[in-house]
This record gives sequence, C-alpha cells and structure tokens, in this order.
Amino acid sequence: MQKLLDMITAKMQQAFADAGYDAAFGRVTVSNRPDLCEYQCNGALSAAKQYKCAPIAIANAVAEKLDKADFSMIEAVMPGFINLKLSDAFLQAYLEEMRSAEDFGIEKFGAGHTVVVDYGGANVAKPLHIGHLRPAIIGESLKRLHKFFGYHTIGDIHLGDWGLQMGLIIAELQERQPDLPYFDLDYTGEYPKESPFTLSELEEIYPTASSKKTDPVFAEKAHTATFELQQGRRGYRAIWDHIMGVSLPDLHRIYDLLDVHFEKWLGESDADPYIPGMIEDLKTKGHAVESSGALVFPVAEEGDKKEMPPCILVKSDGSAIYATTDLATMVQRMQDWQPDKMLYVTDKRQNLHFEQIFRAAKKGGIVRAETELEHVGHGTMNGADGKPFKTRDGGVLRLEALINDMTEFVRAKVVENKIVDETEVEDTTDKIALAALKYGDLSNQPTKDYNFDLERFAAFEGNTGPYILYTIVRIKSILARYGAWEHLPIQVPANIYAKDLMLAITKAGPALEAALKTSSPNMICAYIYDLAGAANKFYHETRILTEEDKALQAGYISLIGLAKRILETCIDLLGFSAPEKM
Ligand code: ARG
Repeated sequence: MQKLLDMITAKMQQAFADAGYDAAFGRVTVSNRPDLCEYQCNGALSAAKQYKCAPIAIANAVAEKLDKADFSMIEAVMPGFINLKLSDAFLQAYLEEMRSAEDFGIEKFGAGHTVVVDYGGANVAKPLHIGHLRPAIIGESLKRLHKFFGYHTIGDIHLGDWGLQMGLIIAELQERQPDLPYFDLDYTGEYPKESPFTLSELEEIYPTASSKKTDPVFAEKAHTATFELQQGRRGYRAIWDHIMGVSLPDLHRIYDLLDVHFEKWLGESDADPYIPGMIEDLKTKGHAVESSGALVFPVAEEGDKKEMPPCILVKSDGSAIYATTDLATMVQRMQDWQPDKMLYVTDKRQNLHFEQIFRAAKKGGIVRAETELEHVGHGTMNGADGKPFKTRDGGVLRLEALINDMTEFVRAKVVENKIVDETEVEDTTDKIALAALKYGDLSNQPTKDYNFDLERFAAFEGNTGPYILYTIVRIKSILARYGAWEHLPIQVPANIYAKDLMLAITKAGPALEAALKTSSPNMICAYIYDLAGAANKFYHETRILTEEDKALQAGYISLIGLAKRILETCIDLLGFSAPEKM
C-alpha cells in the first residue's frame, strides 16, 4: 500500500503540473502547525524563484487544481504556503484499506533478503549480568522488526565459548582437582558423563580464576590451556563439554524470562574449523602479514581520521582471538546462509573492533561487496542516580536479580490494586514487568546511556510500557463489551478526536520503516506513545458503548479495533505483549 504522504505528494505534484509548473515542487510534509492544518506544501515558495512571480499566485493556481473530494480544506496562505486537511472520505478509504490488508498494507521490502542479527553476546560460565540486558532486548526487537518487513531472519547469540575464560577455568580446576582424568595425558578411556562441577560451583570457579590472572605462573597455565583446548586436546574438550552442559540451560532459562529467543546458539567455538582455511586464503591474497610474531591484517586507509590498528588474526602464542573468530564466523554465515545483511548489537565500546573486522571482511572478500554490515553500538544502563549500576556490596548486578526486582515491584502493585484474580497474578505481573523493563530501555535511542528507574518504568501513567499496555487493555474491554468487531469497516465521521486518531494510525508504516532503516526501536516507542495518546483521548471524549446511532457506534468500534491491532503489533515488535486485564 502506498504511504499516505506519498499519495498526497503525488496529488500535489499533479496539481503543480496541471497549473503549468514543474511537478517536482509538489513535495508535501506533515504540518508543523497542527493547529492550522494537517499537511502542507511549501513548493510555491521555491517555484516562485524559478518562475519569477509571486509565490502566492502559484499557491493559488495550484490549490485550484487539487481535487476537492480529497480535502476538507485547501488554503493558499501568505506568503505562499498551501495548507491542507484531508476529507473524511479520503481518510476513511485509506484506513479501510489498512484495516483489511494483511499487516496494515505495509510494504514488505525485505522479502527475499536474509539478515543475520548477532545479539545477546552471552559468555558461557559467566552469569548474565545487567550489561547483557541491552544487547538482548535491542537485538530481539530489531530481529522482529526485520521479520515484519519480510526479511528471512536468523538470530545468532554468538556465545563467548572459546576464549581465555575457558583456559582460566581449566587451569583453576586442575589446581583444585589435579587427579581428574581430564588432566592425565595417558588416559584413553571414556570421560565421566557427570560434570565435575555444578552451576553454582562454576560460577564461583570462574571469578576466582579470573582474579588470578595477575599471577604470571597461573596466567601462563591458563593461556596454555586455552591454546591446547583450541588445538583439540581431548581431556580439555571434555571439560569444555561439561562447562557448556552446565551453563547453557541457565542461559536459556534467563533469555526465556526476557522472551528473547535465538534461532542459532552458535558460538566462537563453532567458527574454529573455518579459521585455518580463512587464514590460508588471506595469506594467499596477501592480506595477512607477519608483525612481531603475530599474523595481522592491516586495515588502515588513507584519509582515516583516527588510528586504525591492524586486525590481529593469530597472536604470537598461536591462539585465535575475538577478531579471528568473528571473521571466521562470517565465513560460516556466508557459506551456510548467504545473508544480505549482518547486524551486530553490542556495547558501543566495541566500535573499533567492528570497524576493523568489517573492513577486513570487505577487503579480504569474506563477504560480498554489497553485503551490509552494521554495528548497532548501544550505550550503558546506569542506576537511577546516573552512576554505574552496582549492587549494595559494589559487585555487578545479575540480570536475573534485576528482572526479579522489577517483577516483585510490579507484583506488589498488581496484588495491592486487586487487578486480577489470584490465578492470573503471575501472568499479568510477568507481562507488565517485561513491558516496563523493555520499554524503559527501548524508548531510549540505542547509542545513548540511560538511567534504570524501576518506579518510573513501572508507572501506569507517562511514557512507559505499562501505560501502553493499559491503553490496549482498555480498548480490549470496550471491544469485549461491544461484541464481534473484526469485520466492521472503517466509517467514522472525523470529529477532532477521531481524526487525530485516524491520522496517527496512517503513520504506522512510515514509523516502523524509519525504525528499521535507522536501527532505532525507540522510534516504535515514540510512535505508539502518540498513537496510545490519540486513542486514549478519543475514547475519553467519545461516548462509544452508550452511543445510540448504531452505524456510528460500529464506526467508532472499528476505529479503536484498528488502533488496538496496530498497538499490539508494535509491542510485539518491541518484544512484549499485553495482559487481558490491568
Ligand atoms: N561475547 C562478547 C562480549 O561479551 C559479545 C559478542 C558479540 N558478538 C560478536 N559477534 N562479537 O563482549
């Protein structure tokens, strides 16, 4: 379906042409003076310069040519603006088409294209902490948004499962339990099925080992263990399997709490088999060169405004690092999925890393020249006081603890306000808490830092997730009391509140498209905040259920029904859903 603004622009361009002027001047914009008009065209002002006459004369001539059926107001005003209001008939026809089309008639321009969204970024053996919230929920939203526009989407968590943290755990385990068969090079039997550690033990082993990194002897052991693991030492692979076996179910569990789901749970380790071939290829092409014992890929370009260090492919100790596995992962993705686009959602402090590997991938022919590579670097979530988020004892807060805090806060409200029957408390609480958490985050531009403010995010009024849910729930209850509404056509006389709501509805497609093109879920939030505001205003100011004119009532109902469906679609793209009651 054509965008409303494009349709009006086409009409305006035709009017310019009919009046004898260049059609290109007929660009229409949403009015910046909603008190005066809904749309406006300032083209006569520019045209006046070319045609050397008064702008108002052109504006008048063009206004004459516009079709009166489409507009309830066409005004040429000094010095030469054309102000427009849409007619009921025109707007109704447009909304009716949106209502009856699939997904509101929004064009699926991603059809036939594949996008990989690399997000989440969890590291095995380390519990998810609050730093993992943003990449998980921004990535999930961007993935859903791409899917909505018809892309074939593959969300890949790209687990950190292959680096030094693995060597640290192995080294620490060896110090604690040197007699385990995993460390005996002569052992040829089967290794025990049972893990030598539980999840909570593992969560203690890793930080202990990590704190010993400054001890040169221990660090050396950990590096060697990492290297040997990557070389395929049997006993170490078996420990690695245990680490994965213990860690993954817990990661799944927490991402499930956030309603974040990955199509692929691949990790750095899965890229490992692609490394030797890739290195050979880059050497042959002359991209990989020796530099003080390491193998590097220079990526600096003439005109660089900042220092651009080379991408390190193999360290002097022979081990592969972050950049290596990321490049090898691209080899795998291109081979298996041929994506047109790869989107990476991580902390923006990783900017340089992605600039380096994107350059290397293009120069080295790992991806095609036209493959889109984008890094969505997000800012930090701080505490309500604007300072880095810390637990009371100064540690890093676990993601699960943050989710629990929000859930408990919301549950108390749900219980206290007797919102739902006891049996529905949990489900309602979870939905509201998730909306509070996600909307609180996603309503900020991804690159910006923001302050986590539990009470503000969970408030039922203001620009919050719960407010959006509340609007949906209110509409649902009106619809439920009315009866079957799904088939009712849009037929509403546009009183001012209805008209604002109708205009807001027409902006769904453009808002979602802009959010996708700039990787900004915050644009979806801004849009639904406006839409929810218009819907609220409309049903407060309009007698709907008590309206005696049945045809009119049906028109009202169909209008709020459409608003509800758009709101529900948008919150699904943000990654949450509405309860039945609130
Ligand atoms: N595991 C990484 C970290 O903790 C994030 C991974 C992001 N994805 C990627 N392809 N590099 O920083």
